[in-house]
Amino acid sequence: MPLINLFEYEERAAEILNEARLGYYSSGARDQISLRNNRDAWETIHLLPHILVDVANRTTKTKILDTPISMPLIVSPTAMHKLAHPEGEVATARAVGKAGTIMILSTLSTVPVEEVAAAATGPIWFQLYIYKNSKDTERLITRATEAGCSAIVITVDAPVWDVREADSRNHFSLPEGMRLANLTGDMSSVAAQDSPASGLGANLNKYLSCSNTWDTIRDVQKMTDLPILLKGVLRTDDACRAAELGIKGIVISNHGGRQLDTAAPTMTRIAPIVEAVGDQVEVLVDGGVRRGTDVIKAIALGAKSVMVGRPILWGLTVDGSDGISHVLALLHEEIDTAMALCGCPSVDDIKADLLQLPHDFSGR
Ligand code: FNR
Ligand code: LAC
Repeated sequence: MPLINLFEYEERAAEILNEARLGYYSSGARDQISLRNNRDAWETIHLLPHILVDVANRTTKTKILDTPISMPLIVSPTAMHKLAHPEGEVATARAVGKAGTIMILSTLSTVPVEEVAAAATGPIWFQLYIYKNSKDTERLITRATEAGCSAIVITVDAPVWDVREADSRNHFSLPEGMRLANLTGDMSSVAAQDSPASGLGANLNKYLSCSNTWDTIRDVQKMTDLPILLKGVLRTDDACRAAELGIKGIVISNHGGRQLDTAAPTMTRIAPIVEAVGDQVEVLVDGGVRRGTDVIKAIALGAKSVMVGRPILWGLTVDGSDGISHVLALLHEEIDTAMALCGCPSVDDIKADLLQLPHDFSGR
């Protein structure tokens, strides 16, 4: 039976993956409150569709940082795709390029950035974790740039690693033959821990810097001419600071509920952040986006594009590159249909007046 929505992909993937892999992919931090609230938040606002609009000629196409994309949806960086499928990030790059959108490749991929970029048919942005040793950070940026990546996405919500309890229980580690392929030596290994702990958490707490500040971002800006985005912004003051620094884009994100638990649901941060930064930076959002109508709501609130994380891993688990292609096709169809039903023939037509916010039973 063909799967018909992203939730069915998640269910099927859960039947395929072993406990440790599924636990790593699906978990949020601690009580998983942000994980749940991210999803639930999209359901708390309602749409007020326009009627009698000619939508015969419509398009989901748009641009993000001057890059044309087939729909306002790009792919969040997620680590270790070989846990889902032997082809790993290469399969992902192929599917995402075919769908006409952007893949953000994690620093912690299980295929080296050069191989992923060589297999890619569309734009790849590189997600950067900042290492204690700035030479390691600079080396990653240089390799990503030389491989052809066209933007650097610095993740800023992870000075330390919060606990995902499934990973502690499972002593999460990378199986034999898999490694963090952009790194070398001990840095590339995710070994099981003796005490209840995640091998990944242990690796990252050891090698990633927890002393990054705005000065560190300035240092990274000096290392590259590529546009830089910051991922993991939830506050308006931080968003404004990023804009002042010349950051080109910010991703409103709580790491899919995997870092600070009870951090605000990302949907609720779009309007205030967009109002604070205006046109100075492009605003993206991720966390719990699973339906075309979620995408419409994000754009109506002022985001330029959404990003999706876990659904890509579910598609990859179920049917490799083709599984991701299907997940992206389902999302494209849902976005297109929702736009038509909202009376929006183009992404620019998706405006705030489509939204009925909670407890607003007044106007329009
Ligand atoms: C992530 N995320 C993540 N973020 C990042 O900046 N670098 C990374 O390496 C990873 N790795 C990672 C692995 C896995 C298994 C998950 C689920 C998530 C966070 C990711 O980019 C994104 O913010 C969330 O996944 C978005 O939420 P949804 O769409 O998964 O609900
Ligand atoms: C995670 C890291 C790798 O969320 O970002 O697991």
